[in-house]
Amino acid sequence: MSSIGVVGAGYVGLTTAACLAHLGHDVVCGDLDAEKVRRLTKGESPILEEGLDDLIVEGLRSGRLRFVVGATAASTGAEFVFLCVATPQGADGRADLGAIDAAAREVAPVLIPGAVVVNKSTVPVGSTERVDRVLREGGAVADVGVASNPEFLREGTAVRDFLHPSRVVVGAEDAAVGVRVSELYRGVHAPVLVTDPASAEMVKYASNAFLATKISFVNAIANLCEAVNADVREVVLGMGYDPRIGFEFLHPGPGWGGSCFPKDTAALLNTADDADYDFALLRGAITSNQAQRERMVAKVRDACSGTLAGARVAVWGLTFKANTDDLRDSPAVAIATSLVEAGATVRAYDPAAGEAAGEIAGLEIAADPYDACADADALVVLTEWDQFRWLDFERVAASMRRAEVVDTRNLLDPAAMRRLGFGYRGVGR
Ligand SMILES: NC(=O)c1ccc[n+]([C@@H]2O[C@H](COP(=O)([O-])OP(=O)(O)OC[C@H]3O[C@@H](n4cnc5c(N)ncnc54)[C@H](O)[C@@H]3O)[C@@H](O)[C@H]2O)c1
Repeated sequence: MSSIGVVGAGYVGLTTAACLAHLGHDVVCGDLDAEKVRRLTKGESPILEEGLDDLIVEGLRSGRLRFVVGATAASTGAEFVFLCVATPQGADGRADLGAIDAAAREVAPVLIPGAVVVNKSTVPVGSTERVDRVLREGGAVADVGVASNPEFLREGTAVRDFLHPSRVVVGAEDAAVGVRVSELYRGVHAPVLVTDPASAEMVKYASNAFLATKISFVNAIANLCEAVNADVREVVLGMGYDPRIGFEFLHPGPGWGGSCFPKDTAALLNTADDADYDFALLRGAITSNQAQRERMVAKVRDACSGTLAGARVAVWGLTFKANTDDLRDSPAVAIATSLVEAGATVRAYDPAAGEAAGEIAGLEIAADPYDACADADALVVLTEWDQFRWLDFERVAASMRRAEVVDTRNLLDPAAMRRLGFGYRGVGR
């Protein structure tokens, strides 16, 4: 078993730290945020992730998981150091590697001979070399290795995805370093690909761009279904049985979002531009995704008799998908904000967004889904929280000024809603 430092206690870092401790490694996880570290030390997870709290408590009790403030304290004496810091979209559309550089500079002086720095953040091709350079400039000892080990977990199922991944990908110039990193996953049953750094880095972007394109594609099919009076739910069922297509990521909706797809597709497009490659297909997927959000706003406008100015709109769901508390680049937030900008009064309920929801400009926050609907001209379902299926819709209809629903997630049963007197608008049906 190895001693591991994890830099960053966000969605990826915290999951990585807790799961590696669960696999038997000695893990020290460091974050800049002292308040986060204080809570973690008491066994409280700062994020909503199924199973994560239990693993944190298990790690703390066994002594295999500790939390400290800062990258240096996490990495001192570690055989492996995982960089799990954010790589947001910069003003120019490229991935902002400022946090990666800063973390590498911090850990450089405390690395022991033979240590391996593993980049788990999503970073463009060339970043493994870049980390290597920053480490050398920062005074790292000579025989420190660097590897790329992109992470494929999904928020909401992060622990399960980490412990039961579809694959483990490691990229390193020195194959022996790559193999050492892959061996940390002993106990995890998944295909392992040890490759060069550029290919490993590209796997992550190619995977996210493919998934985003798949959603953009099915949204386009849904829009076409509306025009020709087909039901996209039936179409997707008929497509998904083809094993070459599959059912996953074939759900039409308000467009993709979240903390990864928008920034990763933008970064890949920049990589293509830098390489003088016209990635028109990806550009199209991004443009049509933006149009999909606008299309949802238009549906709400229709439901409000053609004008949003002065309308009252109830919103159910703000997180970018169900079972997470993450609001970053959420299509739900973008659409709710567009409704406010168009002059609507928007009253929103989300079961997990917490205090962060209150910071979204112009939104009224409701205590529960019924409260959101009081006197509303239309209800918009923006996140596919399961609990929204099982509400008392007679009560919902009675509390609204006009019983109109825009179901951007195709979560509700149109026939049942219409029987209750709702005007129903879904996506692609
Ligand atoms: N969130 C996901 O679903 C997901 C999935 C796969 C990959 N990724 C990638 O993983 C990376 C991290 O994403 P995230 O969602 O976990 O980000 P996050 O913002 O949730 O977490 C980053 C954490 O790093 C800390 N941090 C930043 N600089 C630090 C430093 N110098 N020392 C110590 N701590 C530091 C921050 O305080 C924060 O807690 C990104 O590159 C992202 O693209 C994310």
